[in-house]
Amino acid sequence: MADIRVMREDLPPAQPPRRHLISIRDLTREDVERLLATARTFEHSLEREVKKLPTLRGRTVVNVFYESSTRTSSSFELAAKRLSADTMSIKAAGSAVDKGESLKDTVLTLGAYDPDVIVIRHPQIGAPQLVARYCSARVVNAGDGKHQHPTQALLDLYTIQQEVGRLEGVHVAVVGDVLHSRVARSLVQALDLVGARTTLVGPPPLLPRGIEQLGCETSSDIGAIRDADVVYVLRMQRERMQAGANYVPSLREYTARWGVTPERLRPGQKVMHPGPMNRGVEIDPAVADAADSLIQSQVRAGLVTRMAVLYDLLTHGPIPVPAEAALEVA
Ligand code: NCD
Repeated sequence: MADIRVMREDLPPAQPPRRHLISIRDLTREDVERLLATARTFEHSLEREVKKLPTLRGRTVVNVFYESSTRTSSSFELAAKRLSADTMSIKAAGSAVDKGESLKDTVLTLGAYDPDVIVIRHPQIGAPQLVARYCSARVVNAGDGKHQHPTQALLDLYTIQQEVGRLEGVHVAVVGDVLHSRVARSLVQALDLVGARTTLVGPPPLLPRGIEQLGCETSSDIGAIRDADVVYVLRMQRERMQAGANYVPSLREYTARWGVTPERLRPGQKVMHPGPMNRGVEIDPAVADAADSLIQSQVRAGLVTRMAVLYDLLTHGPIPVPAEAALEVA
């Protein structure tokens, strides 16, 4: 009879559990600090003439986007490429999704290529969990309905830390259509995690009841933005609004009461926006283009933050902050 002890010893070492980034709730403060530090290291590596690192050579990252995207999809693709991973980008339009294929069947198909990471954006809450169930890749949520968009929150923290110099105690006012915003939900949780403060500002019908439980205050008075260090502007997300629902009397009225204009800001207040912007609606063009606008910094932060997320998920468990030299080792 076989000796069970010997058989156990013959087994390969247990695989560490698969890690995903589906919600800010998946992260501890320590995780966030490690990711931001890794992103900073990558930022230094991008200052060199040759921008590609061999870190993820031989790994495969698949981006699956069921909703429109410019910044998020391009930055994930470039992030994977800068780390030398193989990448594929599938958009719902022009793929078999157009022919009625379900998310499950698309995931089973892509899973056959053994990808290491699947990055998914989908209009339905919970789509990333479904991807995790039907394939063995690590999953990154690039936005599921109005639920979560964790890498946007991380890149926003990175931007604030770089431009304001700290996160602890910083006061951020998020203005606009909070009700339909996964960006707002992730950002409130992320700011709370690192000891920053959030006030959500907007028309009462666009401030979800009970959102204070996530760790923030709310106000329907645009004057509340004056106390903040950073004013974070959100778009009216009309494609996510229920048909026929009237959240504001008109866009013109919204702009008049809650639009972020130079007159409503204090000198030195920083302004952020996740994009896409509707200039002249939620944000005055003069604010978007001012020296205190961090919108372009956010886009740059998106690349290095997503490089850090891919790197972190593929190197099991909490890791020490990598020295630049260590990142060179494939
Ligand atoms: C946001 C999104 O898709 O949730 N955009 C983005 O990722 N940069 C915000 C929005 O669509 O308004």
